[in-house]
Amino acid sequence: MTLRKSGLAVLVGLSVLAVDVVGAGADEAELVAEARSRASAFGADLQATLKSAIQAGGLTQGIEVCKSAAPALADQHSVESWSIGRTALRVRNPGNAPDVWQTEQLKMMSAAPIQDGRPASVWRTRDHEGQPMFEYMQAIPTGEVCLKCHGDNVSEGVQKTLTELYPDDQATGFGLGDLRGAFVIRYWPVADQ
Ligand code: HEC
Repeated sequence: MTLRKSGLAVLVGLSVLAVDVVGAGADEAELVAEARSRASAFGADLQATLKSAIQAGGLTQGIEVCKSAAPALADQHSVESWSIGRTALRVRNPGNAPDVWQTEQLKMMSAAPIQDGRPASVWRTRDHEGQPMFEYMQAIPTGEVCLKCHGDNVSEGVQKTLTELYPDDQATGFGLGDLRGAFVIRYWPVADQ
């Protein structure tokens, strides 16, 4: 959604959406599209941050930066009643552990992380504290660059830093194309009030 464009057309568009969402229930297709674009934006920010940290100070610095930047970027992207984060069946950061529903979805996604040429995704609208909450998950497949910190043969230096920073790390041993985890995106308008 282009929020920064000025003009009546955009304002009208936004208020229609707001009424829709708070009222009879948002058009789910619209929420899915919005969740996808938020996942892409968060993913792109994460990758850019990771890449520049690795270029500046190697993988060890990449891990350190990821430790502080990943949760901070998730916070930055959690705006306007949306919240975004990541989860996985085997987590590095215990704070990213999945709940029961997410665990089920991750298990299904791990059988086929890519479906119809795009990352597998799933969503539902459920009751949360008496209000409808939209919840969307999107698979994150393991790419080439990810193997350096999540693969089978991480270097000694990487392993040492991981053990120091994440003593309970479960997030190595992945192969190319394996499901590494998923984005979890929620829309809950009441959270703003
Ligand atoms: C430089 C090392 C490094 C590289 C390269 C890396 N990661 Fe990570 N990854 C980490 C660290 C550190 C964390 C924990 C971040 C935190 O504390 O929230 C993490 C966490 C994650 C998580 C959140 C779930 C969890 O295990 O806590 C996912 C999903 C993830 N990485 C996917 C990827 C993908 C996909 C790639 C490749 C595009 C990738 N990572 C590349 C270091 C790395």
